[in-house]
Amino acid sequence: MDNKIKIGLFGFGVVGQGIYKVLQNAKNAHAEISKICVRSLNKPRSVEAPAELFTTSAAEVLDDPQINLIVEVIDDAAASYKIVTEALRRGIPVVSGNKAMIARNLPELIELQKKYNVALLYDASSCGSIPVIRNLEEYYDNDLLLEVKGILNGSSNYILSRVFDHGEDYASALGRAQQLGFAESDPTFDIEGYDSLFKLIIITMHALGVYVAPEKIFTYGISTIHDSDIRYAREKRVKIKLVAQVAKVAPDKFTMFVMPEFVGPRKYIYSVDDEYNGVVIRGECYDRQFMFGKGAGSLPTASSILSDIMARRHDYRYEYKKMHYLDRPSYTTDITLRVYVRYKDTPIPELLPFSKIHEQYTSDESCFVIGDISLSQLMEHRQDINATDVFLANTMSFFQNLD
Ligand code: HSE
Repeated sequence: MDNKIKIGLFGFGVVGQGIYKVLQNAKNAHAEISKICVRSLNKPRSVEAPAELFTTSAAEVLDDPQINLIVEVIDDAAASYKIVTEALRRGIPVVSGNKAMIARNLPELIELQKKYNVALLYDASSCGSIPVIRNLEEYYDNDLLLEVKGILNGSSNYILSRVFDHGEDYASALGRAQQLGFAESDPTFDIEGYDSLFKLIIITMHALGVYVAPEKIFTYGISTIHDSDIRYAREKRVKIKLVAQVAKVAPDKFTMFVMPEFVGPRKYIYSVDDEYNGVVIRGECYDRQFMFGKGAGSLPTASSILSDIMARRHDYRYEYKKMHYLDRPSYTTDITLRVYVRYKDTPIPELLPFSKIHEQYTSDESCFVIGDISLSQLMEHRQDINATDVFLANTMSFFQNLD
C-alpha cells in the first residue's frame, strides 16, 4: 500500500459523514478521502464536503488507480455486496460496516479474500465503537472461549431503556432512536432482532470459526412487548434486554440465538442502557470479561472504521485461523431453555410443548406461562410465538453466576 491511504468512500449518510469528520481530526492517520460515491448528489446533508469529491458512479471510484482502500458504509445490502465483491476481485482492500451483507455472505467473502489475496475488515459491523471482532480474532485465538453474550443493538436497547427507566412510550422512543441516527433505515431490523442476529453471526465466526446461516438461528425481537411484561419485570426487579448469545453447551457443541431476556441487577449487562452495547466474553481459566461502549451513532461507528483504516496501514487482515482448527464445535438447537411467554388469545400452553411448567397466570387482560422448552421446538413454533398478542423472554443463563 502507498504511504498515504487514499479512500474511495461509498455512502455519505450518518456513518459516512462521521468518517469524513473523524478523518479531519485524525491528522496522523495519513489517510484522505479521494472520492465519495452517493446515490443522489442533491440530498441535503449536515456535513459539507467539497463538491468535486462526489460522484454517483461506482465505476469512477473503483477504476481510480489512486484509490487504495474502499470504505463502504451504505445501508443497501445488495448494492454493498456488488461493490465489496467487485473491489475484492480487483485486489482493492475494503473496510465495511454492512453487517447484513457480511453475515449473509461471509463464506464467499472469506473465499474472495483468499483467492485475490486481499483484506476485508469489518470491526465497525458489530457493536459500533467496541473492538469485538479484532479481539476475538487475535487475543482469544485459542479454544478456551465458552460464551459471547451481550447487547449488540443500540436502537432496541435505547427503546427498552426509555420505556423502562423513563416511562416513555415505545413508539416515541423508536422515533427518537431514528432521529438520533441509531436505527437502521428499516427499523424492523433493530426491533425484530435481525441486526443483533447479523452481528452474532459475524462474532461467532471470529469466536469459534464456524459460520451459521441466519435462517438457522432463532431470532425474536421486542416489538410485541407490552405494559404487562414491563410490570412483571419490575415486580421481579429485573430489566428486559434484547440479548444475543453464542455459547458452548458441551465440549463439541455450541448454540446461538437472539431473544429478549430478564436480566437481574447482578449481571454486567443490566447497567448497559441507551444506545450502549455490552459484551460479556466467558472462557475457561479467565471466567468473564466485559466490554462496554457506544454501539450505534455516527462518530462511535466512524471511530471503529478509522481503526480498520489504520489497521490496513500495517497490512492487517483477518486470518480466520479458528476455521482451520480440527475440533471446531458443531451447532445445535437441542438445548432446553426456560422461557416466559405472555399471550392473550393465542393458546400458548396448548400450542407449545413445554417439558415442565414452573409458573402460570391467567387473567382477562393477559396471561403468561414460564416453562421449559427446547430451542428446536421454539423454532418449529415460530409462527405461534410471532403472533401479535405474544411476547417471549428467556429467563435462563447457561452460566448461573454473574455475566
Ligand atoms: N442500527 C444499529 C444499532 C446501528 O442500533 O445498533 C449500529 O450497528
